[in-house]
Amino acid sequence: MKLPFLGGITAQQFIREYWQKKPLLIRGAFPGFGDMLTPDELAGLACEDDAQSRLVLHSRGKWKLEQGPFDEDRFAQLPEKGWSLLVQGVNNFLPEADELLHQFDFIPRTRLDDLMVSLAPDGGGVGPHFDSYDVFLLQGHGKRLWRVSSQQDMELVPNAPLRILKNFHTDEEWVLEPGDMLYLPPRLAHWGIAVGECMTWSIGFRAPSAQELATQFLVYMQDHIRLDGIYADPDLQPQRHPAQIGGQMLRKVREMLQGVRWNSDDIARFIGTYLTEPKAHIVFDVPRRIGLDKFRARLQQDGIQLDLRSQMLFYGDFVFINGEHVQEAGDTLQCLTALADHRAIPAGLGLPEPAVALLHQWYGAGYLQL
Ligand code: SIN
Ligand code: CO
Repeated sequence: MKLPFLGGITAQQFIREYWQKKPLLIRGAFPGFGDMLTPDELAGLACEDDAQSRLVLHSRGKWKLEQGPFDEDRFAQLPEKGWSLLVQGVNNFLPEADELLHQFDFIPRTRLDDLMVSLAPDGGGVGPHFDSYDVFLLQGHGKRLWRVSSQQDMELVPNAPLRILKNFHTDEEWVLEPGDMLYLPPRLAHWGIAVGECMTWSIGFRAPSAQELATQFLVYMQDHIRLDGIYADPDLQPQRHPAQIGGQMLRKVREMLQGVRWNSDDIARFIGTYLTEPKAHIVFDVPRRIGLDKFRARLQQDGIQLDLRSQMLFYGDFVFINGEHVQEAGDTLQCLTALADHRAIPAGLGLPEPAVALLHQWYGAGYLQL
């Protein structure tokens, strides 16, 4: 199926030719896009405790970074030029933003990070840099000049509070207007400069480093290994150097540690919990308690949807939600995987009782909204 917002190519074509490979500019990807959020509303979000926001300031060749949440007066004191406000996870607050992310469902949700919105006055931006992310930069209101470079020189400005490329050589540049979109693969140097006040929506796809995956996997394994026995040395050899770690001990410990094993279920459980683990600043609002009978009736009548902050994935019969997992089968599994895919269950479906009980429990934790 050809996707208009990819410029009329199919998802397969996009992935084959561009994804993780080279940039793609799509003029008029989302015609008329631009007013889901006003600059004032974005600034309002940046004042909330549970939004991750940053203010990047640039003046006389010096970069400054301030972390939110901000006081409202901060925005009144901003200079006319030389700044950019960035708010992460706008999809956690704005249902229309969550809706927009569904357009990108042709890339697995396991790769999705979040939707960030930036606001900058004329000339503003976060400077030339590269990201370890795949990103779709969708132009909201106003215009932005994007410069890209295939340069290999990734030297950064020393001691700057954010990563700015010391040398940037433009290979190509485009001015994006509302509704235009630019896809950039990871590690491609880029530089976005506001042309008049503008807002840019970045749909970011995370790519964890091997080191991060390994470190997190070891954290996960720490809670999941069970090794029996204790170190024993009935065959101990007397040593000339009492302080020396003997070869015999080394061999025995090595053998014990070889008991640390994992299989594909461990890997699946690890990835599922790791990828759905809420970010540190996310707190779910616990709703007023309702009994199971009343919940069942409301579920039947209104349907249910994932809270905007909830992350849900599945693998085989494992279902993951916000860093927790359950193992289910049959109709219940089918109902949960549909919820994970569509982030909602419509009204009027007769759901199996174990599914209703689970949904009731997750509703109680604030993971779902009726
Ligand atoms: C921005 O929207 O200003 C920054 C997006 C980026 O360059 O990654
Ligand atoms: Co970037």
